Formats: sequence, structure tokens, C-alpha cells
Amino acid sequence: MDHFNYRDGVLYGEEVPLSTIAEAFGTPCYVYSKATLTRHFRAYTEALGSHPHLICYAVKANSNLAVLGLLARLGAGFDIVSVGELERVLAAGGDPAKVVFSGVAKQEGEMARALEVGIKCFNVESRPELERLDAVAGRLGKVAPVSLRVNPDVDAGTHPYISTGLKDNKFGIPVDEALEVYELAARLPNVRVTGLDCHIGSQLTELAPFLDALDRLLLLLETLRQRGIEVEHLDLGGGLGVPYRDEQPPAPFDYATALLERLSGWEGSEGLTLLFEPGRSIAANAGVLLTRVEFLKPGETKNFAIVDAAMNDLIRPALYQAWQAILPVDTRHPRPSDTYDVVGPVCETGDFLGKERTLAIAPGDLLAVRSAGAYGFVMASNYNSRPRPAEVMVDGDRSHLVRRRERLDELWSGEALLPDDTGSEG
Ligand code: LLP
Repeated sequence: MDHFNYRDGVLYGEEVPLSTIAEAFGTPCYVYSKATLTRHFRAYTEALGSHPHLICYAVKANSNLAVLGLLARLGAGFDIVSVGELERVLAAGGDPAKVVFSGVAKQEGEMARALEVGIKCFNVESRPELERLDAVAGRLGKVAPVSLRVNPDVDAGTHPYISTGLKDNKFGIPVDEALEVYELAARLPNVRVTGLDCHIGSQLTELAPFLDALDRLLLLLETLRQRGIEVEHLDLGGGLGVPYRDEQPPAPFDYATALLERLSGWEGSEGLTLLFEPGRSIAANAGVLLTRVEFLKPGETKNFAIVDAAMNDLIRPALYQAWQAILPVDTRHPRPSDTYDVVGPVCETGDFLGKERTLAIAPGDLLAVRSAGAYGFVMASNYNSRPRPAEVMVDGDRSHLVRRRERLDELWSGEALLPDDTGSEG
């Protein structure tokens, strides 16, 4: 459930008509709902109840400071994959002691900064990374808390680009090699084993792969225990899917309940803190991309609705053939209905936001691309020298500009002309 609904034929974000936001801030523009973000975050914490847990929101899904600040105030921890994300979390008032650091190639400087601010845990993805972390921590006179990300080799049944828990993915340590790497971690002087983690993929719509992964992790925990290695937390990553169209993914409540039930048979489970790294299930349906129809271009085989947002603003349809609902913002005026490919101004045939959509629209109308709160703005680029869109957060009947539209001069602000003496004579 989210807070983007029609009232008397007009699409609102909470109490604000989306047309008012377009008037005030222009298009294209991302609009997020504070109430929806809050609701989605709380669905996790409420389901986990009194079981020790920490919800580490995956910053990559939407890293706007207002989103991070809101979640920090709700008590969230954060899953980061770069020092840039770490600095964002700190700038937003997040608690470094609740940060876990994922990613396959953490650089020495990134490790050092994370050690300096005292993050909760490094999710280590390989033996050489563990050795690098031990060396960096040693140089700084610190002990790095580590969890090994294991690859449980389960099929998440999702799009191949966002499936991460199979043997032939680049992520994690194969489950049958994990024991050896844990034993190394236990011997290294500057790291301390605190956890075990996995992340098997994104946009999962079934519980079974999560439960299979949990079973494999529990088997490994058993073996570790026999070798005298105990962990404090188990991190199951992110990955819970959302309804984009007609998918029916389990709700966070059902997901957490099923995991707790499976875990309850395991000796010592009460003391095992559960960590999750949800991104999409918190942010996706808490945001829309607002765009305006520039032209309607009827064709012999296809009609195009050319809008002012493009693949550089929202790349998911072009990159993953992802389907996201596209809705007219104001349905009060009668319009002829037709089938359109909704495309942007970028010079690529792959530049589309949706194909074969039935819409009753006219030039100048506003459209909202739904489910755009996760992997939307964060994946935006300046391709075709297009400034990145504005971001707005609605809160009840108020709307706040949480990132202004990029200015044209910012597009080349880090660039330089060649010095004069290089000449152009050749
Ligand atoms: N933890 C780790 C280690 C991850 O790699 C990811 C996502 C997450 C957590 C959060 O997963 P979520 O709960 O959002 O599914 N750009 C793609 C999604 C890429 C996901 C990458 N990893 C998309 O637009 O569908």
C-alpha cells in the first residue's frame, strides 16, 4: 500500500495533487511520499517485534539525504557499498554504528574511513578482501568487525541481471569454501568475526529461495559452532520484491514471520540478531516520476507519446525491460484513448518508459510513472547532456524540494578546455 491515489479524478501524493508539484518544481521530477517510506520501514520492524534485529536500508535504492534522514530518525541502520554512500549516511545524521558495508571491491581508503567512523560490520566477499581489511585495520590500530557474505547457490528466480546468489555470480564466497575463510578470519589479528550474511538477488516474489538460503546458512552456522566460531548476527540481505504490475510478493510481515518460524527451531536463535538490507521494498512504491507529454506522434504501426522524461532519468525499462505503471495525473478532461509507446527525447530507440500503454492523453498532460522510488534517480545520468531531475518529498499537505533540478552549468563544472598552446592546426 502506498499514498499515491486518485481523488476526484486527480492523482495525489498524500494530500498534495501531483499537478501542484509539477507547477511548483517543473518536470521531470521525482516525488516521494514520507508516509509510504515510513509505513514500509515499520512493516519490517513491527514484524520482527521483540526478536533482536536491525533493518539496514540499502542506500543504493534511493540515497537522497531526506530519505536517509527520515529512515535514520525511524531507527534504521544502513547497508552501503561505497564511501560515497557512507558519507551520505553521515551527512543525513545516520548512526555509523548501524552501518554494514557490502560490495565486492572495497578500496583501502574506503575501509579506512569506515573503520575511522566505527561501522557495525564489513560484509566481506572474498579471501583477498579479508586480507586487505586485516592489513588496513592493523595499520590504523583497529579491529574490524566482519561478516562473510556467502553465496548459498540458490536460484532466486528473478531477472538474471539482479540475481546474485548463484554459483556463477561474482558475489560472495561459495558456501563450501566459507568455513576455510572463517577459520582464516578467526586467526587474523585485526579482524573479529561478528556475523554471517548473504544476499541472493532482488525483486524476489517467492519466499522459498529466502528460506532455502536461511537453511544453508544455518547449516554453516552449525559447522562454525563446532569449530568454536560463534557469530552475533545473521544478515539475510535485501531482495524482497514489490508489486510493479500483477506480481504478488510476500509482504515484509509474512516474510519476517516465516523466517522467524524457521529460525525458532535452531538452538540459540533468540540471541542471534537478525539483519536485513531492504531497498526496493521500502522505497520503490514510495515514489513516482512525474513527466509531461510533449507531443503525440501517431504512426502507421505505432503511436508514440513523447514525454519530457527519458532513459537517463529512469533507466529500468530500457535496461531490464522493467514494466512500471504509467498513469495520467488528471483524468477529469475527456480525451480520446489510444495505445502508445511512451518514449523520451533521448536519441536511442531503447529510450522508452513503457510500451503499448492504453492512455487517454493530450499534449501538455502530466503522467506519473509509478514504483520509481527505488533505482530511479540513483541510476539517472546526464546522457544527452540532460540535467538530472528535481526530487520532492511530500509530507501530508506539504511538499519539500529535497534536491533541486541540476543546472546546465553543473553539467560541465568539472571539465576543462585544453590549454591555448595546443592549438588546433593539427
Ligand atoms: N544488499 C545487497 C548486498 C545488494 O546487492 C542489494 C541490491 C540490496 C541489499 C538491496 O536489494 P533490494 O531489497 O533493493 O532488492 N538496479 C536494479 C536492482 C539492483 C539491486 C542490487 N543489489 C533494479 O532497478 O531492479
